[in-house]
Amino acid sequence: APLKIGLIPADGIGREVIPAAQRVLESLSNGPRFDFVHLDAGFEYFQKTGTALPQVTIDTLKNECQGALFGAVSSPSHKVAGYSSPIVALRKHLDLYANVRPVASVASPAFPNQKVLDMLIIRENTECLYIKSERQEVDPATGLKVAYADRKISEYASKRAGTMAFNMALTRQQLREQKPLENRIWKHKPRVTIVHKSNVMSVTDGLWRETVRAVKEDNPEKYGGVDMEEQLVDSMVYRMFREPEAFDVVVAPNLYGDIISDGAAALVGSLGVVPSANVGDNFVMGEPVHGSAPDIAGKGISNPIAAIRSAGLLLEHLGHTQHALKMYDAVDAVLADGSILTPDLGGKSTTNEVVEAVLKHL
Ligand code: NAI
Ligand code: MG
Repeated sequence: APLKIGLIPADGIGREVIPAAQRVLESLSNGPRFDFVHLDAGFEYFQKTGTALPQVTIDTLKNECQGALFGAVSSPSHKVAGYSSPIVALRKHLDLYANVRPVASVASPAFPNQKVLDMLIIRENTECLYIKSERQEVDPATGLKVAYADRKISEYASKRAGTMAFNMALTRQQLREQKPLENRIWKHKPRVTIVHKSNVMSVTDGLWRETVRAVKEDNPEKYGGVDMEEQLVDSMVYRMFREPEAFDVVVAPNLYGDIISDGAAALVGSLGVVPSANVGDNFVMGEPVHGSAPDIAGKGISNPIAAIRSAGLLLEHLGHTQHALKMYDAVDAVLADGSILTPDLGGKSTTNEVVEAVLKHL
C-alpha cells in the first residue's frame, strides 16, 4: 500500500517549500509510493474561518495518515482572541514526544570558514515550561506585579526522550559504518550528551538527569556501546560554539533544546537548511525549523533545503532509510557544488532552480 502523507503547507514560504519537498519525494526512483493528502491549517486559514486547525485536519492525520509534512505558521507576537498555534496543538494531538533536529556541516565554497559538526539534537517536545501554566498576581509586599510559570518534568516523558536518544546514537553509528572512514565526521564511539541544570534545579532537572541516565544503566546489553556524558546547559552553549565537533547525540528538556538547536543552526549557515521531525510511536511529522519568512514570501527565493531534508527525516522514521540517504546526498551535492544556491546562502538562484539541481543529483 502507498504511504499516506498529509501535506500542511500553512503560511508564507510554507507554501513554496512543501511543494518543493513533495516534488523530490515523488521523484525517488524505486522509492515508496505516496498518497498525498492536502490539509489546511495556519494563521491565514484562521483569518478566513476563525479556526487555525480544523478538526478534519486532525482526524485525517490521526485516522488515515502515517506521517505528515508541515510548512510554517505565521503566529503573531501579540495575543489574538481565539487563536493558538496549530503546530503546538498537532504535537499534542498526535503525541509527538520528541523533536529530532540534525545539524551538520557540508563543505561548500559558499561558506569556507564553517565549523565541522554533525550533531543530532533531541528535544523533549511535550512538557517543561511549554505546558504554559503561567499566572500573574500582585505581590502584597511591594504592591507590584509578579509572574510565575510551572515547569513539568515527568519520568514518563524523560524516559521516552532518553530512549530515543540512545536508540538514535546506535542508528547513527550503523549509518556511519556504511561510509568510508575519511568521510565520517564523528570518529568515536557513539555518545549521548545529557543537557541539564540540576546543580540549580535539583528536583526538576534532577529527575530529568536521573531518568535519562537510567535508560543506559538499566539496559547495559543494549546501550553498553554508547558513551554517556553530561553538560550543564550554559556550558553546553559555550562548548557547542567552541568545539561543535565534540557532540554526537544531545538530549535536552524542551526549553533548553529549543535554544540550543537555533544556536546550532547558526553554525551551519542558514535557518533555511535545518530540518526537524516531530516523532511519536505511531506518527512522524517533518517540519523545517524555520518560520514563514514573511520578508521573502511570494518571491520564489525561499530555500527549499530544510523542507527537503525534513521530508528525508520523515522517510527515515517511517523505515525508508536508504531513500532518505539518497535525498540527503543529493542535497549535500548541491551545497558542495555551491553554484546553485538561494540568496540566504549567498547565491542568486530561485527555489525551483535548487529543486531542479537536487533532482539532477538524485
Ligand atoms: P523565520 O524563520 O520565518 O525567518 C527568519 C529569517 O530567516 C528571515 O530573514 C527569513 O527570510 C530567513 N529564512 C527563514 N527560512 C528561510 C528559508 N527557507 N529560505 C530563506 N530564508 C529563510 O523567523 P521569524 O521572522 O522570526 O518569524 C516569522 C514568522 O514565522 C512569525 O510569525 C513566527 O511566529 C513564525 N514562526 C513559525 C515557526 C513554525 O511554524 N514552526 C517557527 C518560527 C517562526
Ligand atoms: Mg525555536
